[in-house]
Amino acid sequence: MARRARKHQPGTATALPTGEAAVAAIEDYLRTQEDLDLLRFITCGSVDDGKSTLIGRLLWESKQIFDDQVAALKCDSKKHGTQGDEIDFALLVDGLTAEREQGITIDVAYRFFSTDRRKFIVADTPGHEQFTRNMVTGASTADVAIILVDARHGVMTQTRRHAFLVSLVSIRHVVLAINKMDLCGFSKEVFDDIAGQFRQFAAGLGFETVTPIPLSALRGDNIIHRSASTAWYAGPTLIGFLETVSPRGADTAAFAFPVQWVNRPNQDFRGYAGTIASGVLRAGDDVRAVHTGQLARVARIATFDGDLPEAVAGQSVTLVLDREIDLSRGDVLCAPAQPLQTTDQFEATIVWMGEEAGLIGRTYEMKSICHEGSASITQIKHRIDVNTLAHEAQRKLQLNDISVCNLAATKPFAFGPYAESPSFGSFILIDKFSNNTVAAGFIRHSLRRSQNIHRHSHAIGRAQREQLNGHRGRVIWLTGLSGSGKSTVADALAQRLHGQGIRTYVLDGDNVRHGLNKDLGFTDADRVENIRRVAEVAKLMVDAGLVVITAFISPFRSERRMARELFEPGQFLEVFMDVPLEVAEGRDVKGLYAKARRGDLPNFTGIDSAYEAPEAADVVIGVGDTVAQATERICRAVLE
Ligand code: ADX
Repeated sequence: MARRARKHQPGTATALPTGEAAVAAIEDYLRTQEDLDLLRFITCGSVDDGKSTLIGRLLWESKQIFDDQVAALKCDSKKHGTQGDEIDFALLVDGLTAEREQGITIDVAYRFFSTDRRKFIVADTPGHEQFTRNMVTGASTADVAIILVDARHGVMTQTRRHAFLVSLVSIRHVVLAINKMDLCGFSKEVFDDIAGQFRQFAAGLGFETVTPIPLSALRGDNIIHRSASTAWYAGPTLIGFLETVSPRGADTAAFAFPVQWVNRPNQDFRGYAGTIASGVLRAGDDVRAVHTGQLARVARIATFDGDLPEAVAGQSVTLVLDREIDLSRGDVLCAPAQPLQTTDQFEATIVWMGEEAGLIGRTYEMKSICHEGSASITQIKHRIDVNTLAHEAQRKLQLNDISVCNLAATKPFAFGPYAESPSFGSFILIDKFSNNTVAAGFIRHSLRRSQNIHRHSHAIGRAQREQLNGHRGRVIWLTGLSGSGKSTVADALAQRLHGQGIRTYVLDGDNVRHGLNKDLGFTDADRVENIRRVAEVAKLMVDAGLVVITAFISPFRSERRMARELFEPGQFLEVFMDVPLEVAEGRDVKGLYAKARRGDLPNFTGIDSAYEAPEAADVVIGVGDTVAQATERICRAVLE
């Protein structure tokens, strides 16, 4: 494609679009710069630190910038992989593709430029704390991080947070760009002081190199030319450093291939379709299925354009094996020596990005390169104070927290520790209702219990017990405000069913909180745990063949949904006691509303703690229903 390269004009630095268009633009750019090697870097800092000025300055000082090619390239992405530089391209867009597939919204702007010695891609990540997410997504493929500080302010909490996140995503080289040196009289003392503080902090983070550079992005000092104002500085200029630092180098990761779908058009053909996540595969290579450990040999590497002798990371192919093995969507084929494992309980570092706190026991949608399913935090081990790197006790995850947690997934998935395998060791958590990404996770290791606890199957199961009882096991889940009549209806229901020879058990909030849950109060976190335990107990009781009636406020949608998901369809009946706050408060049988209004009872549902009404309950009981009518309606619904 003809290219209209033109030298950049000051002040016209253009943010590239993201997603497909960015990938297409980058692809074309690389094709025209084949002889130069590539360095990817990110900039961390805020506009106040002079970040935009710095990026503008880099683009301006570099020899070329092609800010007009993006639009022309939007339609060009089909050429993917057909050019001679496809390996380079794949390396570059790998991260982007993985992020896209993981459903992370990429709102990082990618800019690119080159000098005589190198081409560069800058992932420009917003600096404000709220944008930690962008930082994490933008960093995942970078070789170098430029952390900006304003010389007048020195190392701030945000600087340390950025440095920590940079280390978390395994970036090895850090430039501490000490900017606005002109406003500090180009003082060596100021520079040495900031550089010293940062080095001391960064010593615990395991970077390969930390390079402080005194700059004035505005005036151009030490960007490409050595500044006469910093005669005392003997280190590299910023571009000098970026031109000579060693990039991560070629992807040496072993072959790994998440199976996206099994292609079986007829009896004679069975292929596994997907995109190679890392490494190289040749026809005839041995591969291992991570879930079962079964080995097979690759008979063919098929594509729409015919078979290939060899395929590399980033290519979409269909693999045909020489024998039948158990393999389905979500499984991973890897080189026999690849250290991928499976787990359903693991320890991970979590960067919390949700506005709403992350709670132990709440289930989130988890997505990794090869897995989608539910997961929950089972333990928060500690939060890391980004200023001191000290470990702090913590009960819930707040926006921007970086914490080490244990998590449990509902089914085993293939993974590698992030340090060894970034693509198989990272994941995101998504809120099931808002669909927002609430956390980025970096797997540290599988928990031993994940391998050592097995399910035992007993000869007498639910079916046998249900047969003996003469009816099926069920949960009738009553939810509503305190005073909405849950306990009364539960009691009436139990009497009525009991009278019909049905074995019932009522789990009631006030009662369970005297025993099993006596350690729990009424914070959001405790209510989540209360409902989690009750749902698990109800599950055991349904397994015992009983009809379980639960009477808990169960104020949060997430936990009611979690409870429902523990059961088979038809086993779980949600009943909403739809009594408005005024009515429940008017009844105030236990005098608790009055207490709450007086301020003597904090976190009271409906007063200063939320109740999220069900949107699609199976049965809704209103204020107009008598206990008898309510019982009748619920019984009818149960019998359906
Ligand atoms: S839940 O929110 O975790 O589901 P649960 O149903 O177990 O609550 O307990 C609610 C009962 O505890 C209420 O009926 C009331 O009697 C009592 N209670 C005491 N403090 C509170 C409070 N802060 N909020 C709601 N209920 C409370």
